[in-house]
Amino acid sequence: MKLQNRKILVTGATAGIGQALVEVLLQKGCQIIICARNEAALDAMRNEHGGLCTFRCDLASTSGVENLAEYIHAEHPDLSILINNAGVQYLMDFNTAPYDEIRHTSQQEIGVNFAAPVLLSALLLPVLCRQPSGAIVNITTGLALSPKKSSPVYCATKAALRSFTKSLRYQISEKYPHLRLIEALPPLVDTAMTRGRGTGKISPVRAAAEIINGVERGRDEIYAGKSNLLRIVHRIAPSIAERILKSW
Ligand SMILES: NC(=O)c1ccc[n+]([C@@H]2O[C@H](COP(=O)([O-])OP(=O)(O)OC[C@H]3O[C@@H](n4cnc5c(N)ncnc54)[C@H](OP(=O)(O)O)[C@@H]3O)[C@@H](O)[C@H]2O)c1
Repeated sequence: MKLQNRKILVTGATAGIGQALVEVLLQKGCQIIICARNEAALDAMRNEHGGLCTFRCDLASTSGVENLAEYIHAEHPDLSILINNAGVQYLMDFNTAPYDEIRHTSQQEIGVNFAAPVLLSALLLPVLCRQPSGAIVNITTGLALSPKKSSPVYCATKAALRSFTKSLRYQISEKYPHLRLIEALPPLVDTAMTRGRGTGKISPVRAAAEIINGVERGRDEIYAGKSNLLRIVHRIAPSIAERILKSW
């Protein structure tokens, strides 16, 4: 898939992998729209990269998702790629955490990581399918294959997004064969989300470069870095993959 001159929406692109995706895509001559909650971070991105369009919204809420979609319909009807990148992760032990904390963090994770990509896909499909070619890229994780112990809801939302991506691919390919449904599975990446934990992380720039390379090569599933190894282990011996991740 050629990316030059395309208009692309990257959600959650003021930090980490999203910010790196923007940088890679700008180098390829794309026009980019980004969204996040933090206004100052959006302004900083716009100041750094002239021509970038920004939209402030909270993707944990349905109204935030709908406002973003309305803005795209009104201002960017030529959007051809949606990258559902925004995500949150909470470490949560259900044995000890108070219910109020579990309710709050779970609603955030389910809202941002799963409900927002589902609703955005539905709301922006009419825009995307009008373009000569287009794509929805959903950022999941190797943990969508096998969950780890410490973030049960995060892993569940990513497994759900993986399943949704596959199913939607089947549906879309019948009616809109020019629209692609892509899943990207980064390994552990050095961002705010993983600060203070994990080893052997790759940089956001490397993760973004591998994701964009996979999109350009026409991959339906993009396994970046060590996610590829996890995919192989998971395929050959799922119980070994589960044992490795169980204790994380
Ligand atoms: N880091 C990893 O090791 C890793 C590995 C595999 C997959 N992933 C996935 O890659 C994606 C990016 O992760 P990351 O590590 O780059 O995260 P990050 O550095 O924490 O950045 C998250 C981005 O999402 C935005 N965001 C968070 N909550 C939001 C909300 N309610 N509404 C709108 N925007 C929101 C943040 O901006 P605001 O806070 O201003 O809203 C920020 O721009 C996520 O989907 C994550 O699950 C990450």
